[in-house]
Amino acid sequence: MAIVDENLEPRHFTGKSAVWDLIVYDILSAGLVMTIYQIANTNFHLSNLSKSNVNCIECSHVESDYVSSLQRPILNNINCQINQGEFVVLLGLNGAGKSTLLKSFVGLVSLVQGEIKVNGVSLTKENLTQIRRDVGMLFQGGGLIRQLSAIDNVLCGRLGARKTQQTLFGFPQRDRTLALELLTQLGLKEQIYQKTGQLSGGQQQKVAIARALMQSPQILLADEPTTGLDVIASQQVMETLAELHQQGLTIITVLHDLSLATKYGERAIILDSGKVIYDGKCDNLQQKFSYINK
Ligand SMILES: Nc1ncnc2c1ncn2[C@@H]1O[C@H](COP(=O)(O)OP(=O)(O)O)[C@@H](O)[C@H]1O
Ligand SMILES: [Mg+2]
Repeated sequence: MAIVDENLEPRHFTGKSAVWDLIVYDILSAGLVMTIYQIANTNFHLSNLSKSNVNCIECSHVESDYVSSLQRPILNNINCQINQGEFVVLLGLNGAGKSTLLKSFVGLVSLVQGEIKVNGVSLTKENLTQIRRDVGMLFQGGGLIRQLSAIDNVLCGRLGARKTQQTLFGFPQRDRTLALELLTQLGLKEQIYQKTGQLSGGQQQKVAIARALMQSPQILLADEPTTGLDVIASQQVMETLAELHQQGLTIITVLHDLSLATKYGERAIILDSGKVIYDGKCDNLQQKFSYINK
């Protein structure tokens, strides 16, 4: 994953390339071991999840490092709660801190103050692996390897759960079965063995979603999943997220399109300069935005 600022060089989590960042992220986020029972009862493997008032993500007074170019921390005293089973849209102008906030939920941002709890567990170095099992992340731009087929990209979502020697001669059959099922369920049966670079933007985004679902997460974070897609493809990606939400997945997605936010979001959180300036219903979002920069 590269953290990019128009004025700065891209900075990578591992200090290497974006591909390395993704592989390392996957390795760190060791997935749940998929049981035969789950494979036989597949419905995105989310049937045990349900809506509740239980906080699955809780941010209290979250503050990230001070950035001299901004003359403030990127996350500047963030307080918010996401309930299990919610569909939350994260909105704000470019540079507001949306991507940084999503990354902070999986421990990719160092905090100088405050606390983030995922499913009631405080996010620390020690329990990062445990927490990352529950949280799937869809990085901005999809983060796929274009030269690999759709199924191989999806299988990369299991790297964290497999030892190197287990993948030397390919992934176990149960991983392949799950990857095939996910791609089929997302409407990509014909594209399973096609190179991802040859797929349309919408299809690529679905491959990225399937990849994130390989670890059977309870929470899916999606950073601008519709950016760069045409109207139909955007709609299809949002419908996919809505279907996952219907099945119990908690969705937190960054969007720029306010009409999509209104249509799909149950709640909107608007950030400005690293602070939450609105947290509530997805009504009149345009009006909420008009307060920014006033
Ligand atoms: N690691 C970093 N170091 C310095 N500045 C950063 C870093 N990451 C992001 N930024 C800056 O912080 C601000 C918020 O970034 P980001 O979370 O990507 O915003 P958004 O996703 O809302 O567009 C931007 O101005 C960005 O350039
Ligand atoms: Mg962003």
